[in-house]
Amino acid sequence: MKLRYFSHSAFQITAKSNKKILIDPFLDDNPTSPVKSDDVSADYIILTHAHGDHIGDAFKIAKRCNSLFICVNELANYCSGKGFNAHNMHIGGGHNFDFGRIKFTIAHHGSLTPDNQYGGEPSGVILSIDGKNIYHTGDTGLFYDMKLIGEMTPIDYMLLPIGDNFTMGITDAVKAVELTNPKTAIPMHYKTFPVINADPNEFKDKVEKLGKKSIVMEFGQEIEL
Ligand code: NI
Ligand code: MN
Repeated sequence: MKLRYFSHSAFQITAKSNKKILIDPFLDDNPTSPVKSDDVSADYIILTHAHGDHIGDAFKIAKRCNSLFICVNELANYCSGKGFNAHNMHIGGGHNFDFGRIKFTIAHHGSLTPDNQYGGEPSGVILSIDGKNIYHTGDTGLFYDMKLIGEMTPIDYMLLPIGDNFTMGITDAVKAVELTNPKTAIPMHYKTFPVINADPNEFKDKVEKLGKKSIVMEFGQEIEL
C-alpha cells in the first residue's frame, strides 16, 4: 500500500488492489500542493468535513473519475444532491468496501459547506487497508477519547493537524499522539497559510521524545506503508 501526501490534509492511498482513495483533496487553490487536481485519480473520495480546504477539488475529480464519495450522512447527501455517487455513513459506524474498511470517528470542529449549507458533524476516519490501520483525524481540537479510539483500533499511522489556530497546535498534537498511541505519527494541516505556519520537525522531535516514531512527509512525497 502507498501513501501520498499533497500537503494540508490531502492524501491519496493506493491499496495493493490498486484501488485509489483520496482524502480531503484540496489541490488547485492550495499554495503548497505541487500536484493539481487534473493529475490525480480516485476510485473513492473521503471527506472529513465540508470546509473548502477539505472539499477542495473533490467534485472536479469525482466528475472525471466517477469516484464514490464516502462521508457522514449530511455531507454525503450534499454530494448526492450535486449528482455524485455517495455512500452515507456516520460517526461510530464502520463499513467494508472492496479496498478495506472505513470507520468514522468524532472530531471537534465545524462543517459548513463553501455555499453555507450544514455539512453534518465533522469527522475523523480510520482506514483499515492491507492489514494496517490509518487514522486521519480530520480537523480537530484535542480530545481525551482519542485514547479510546487507539484502544479499540491499534493505529499504525496517525495523520494529525499541528498548524494551530483552526486545529490542534504542536503541544496538543503531541498529547494526541500520547493518548492514541500510534506506531507512527505524520503531521498535516500546516504551512498552507501564514496563520498555520507550524514547524513539523519540532513536532517530530517532541513525538520522538515520547519514544514514538514520526515521519515528516514532503509535499508531493509518496511512501510505502
Ligand atoms: Ni476545517
Ligand atoms: Mn482545515
